[in-house]
Amino acid sequence: MNSVKWISPCLCVCVVIPAILALAGCDVERRRSDAELGLNPQQAAGRQLYDNYCDRCHEPYSSRGKKGPSLKGVFKKQYLSVSGLPANDERMTEIIKYGRSKMEGFGQVMTDQQIQDLLAYLHTL
Ligand code: HEC
Repeated sequence: MNSVKWISPCLCVCVVIPAILALAGCDVERRRSDAELGLNPQQAAGRQLYDNYCDRCHEPYSSRGKKGPSLKGVFKKQYLSVSGLPANDERMTEIIKYGRSKMEGFGQVMTDQQIQDLLAYLHTL
């Protein structure tokens, strides 16, 4: 039973440590600062808008759903997960301005410049 000897260190390095890192990086994670996230001033302004208007329904850094779907990596995929619309600035701007079914629109609350800032932030997710 020689193999048992190296299975446990391997189990530790291959399974346990990544699991701990994954857990640590998950929900228990403290809020990272704009600097830690490497946000430029426009993206940081967008993050503030996100916190004010979007965060209560959409998770930015976890794939967990809230009232709406997670927006983690929203621009990294070609299509939006719920609507299947292309994940691009045009569609995103429309969703933000006019809303979608259970989501209200923000065209009355945010200026075009603010929507640009918000998009810049969404691209960092
Ligand atoms: C009151 C809760 C709520 C708020 C606030 C909200 N949303 Fe939503 N959002 C939703 C829901 C619910 C959906 C799913 C709508 C549907 O059924 O198509 C959604 C859908 C979306 C979608 C499309 C997702 C997909 O996969 O098709 C995007 C993008 C989005 N929201 C972005 C935002 C942004 C950006 C903000 C902030 C300006 C925001 N939402 C604010 C609830 C909300």
